[in-house]
Amino acid sequence: MSNSTVLDNADRRDFLGKATAAVGAAGAAVACWPFVSSMNPSLDTLEKATTEVNISGIAPGQMETVSWGGKPVFVVHRTAEQVAAMKNSPGGKDPQPDADRAKQPEWLVVVGVCTHMGCIPARTEEGWLCPCHGSVYDNSGRIMHGPAPLNLAVPPVQFVSADKIIIGEA
Ligand code: FES
Repeated sequence: MSNSTVLDNADRRDFLGKATAAVGAAGAAVACWPFVSSMNPSLDTLEKATTEVNISGIAPGQMETVSWGGKPVFVVHRTAEQVAAMKNSPGGKDPQPDADRAKQPEWLVVVGVCTHMGCIPARTEEGWLCPCHGSVYDNSGRIMHGPAPLNLAVPPVQFVSADKIIIGEA
């Protein structure tokens, strides 16, 4: 991983401190917006919904957020460095090989809902940070630090062509 994609410990502390301060300044009601349970269908229900995504415009290192059955889903075009780093990491408290989460290593597709209390994590260079209580996910969507118990969920994904994926089961 290049230096530009790594936050060292001092930077991370600084970043987390700023994020915490931002949450305090903005107010938890704004920064932490968990899905209301009635609007938060289970993955079983969601699997009946499908969302087609044109991935041709997502450059390496970029992410697009799409809606799948009303839930945010992060579609990430990972760089070669990110793929290599995730391949060599077992994850954190919910260990899972990256290969089990990304069918095609350069494309990671995860449900953008924190597994702690349902906030939407914010993208960072190392993965995601949930602003509500500080859960940190890596670039495979695996929980690395903080109170969230599980990795970000991986929805069913079909790679239809070089330009198109379908989230959900067709
Ligand atoms: S809801 Fe994400 S850390 Fe609590």
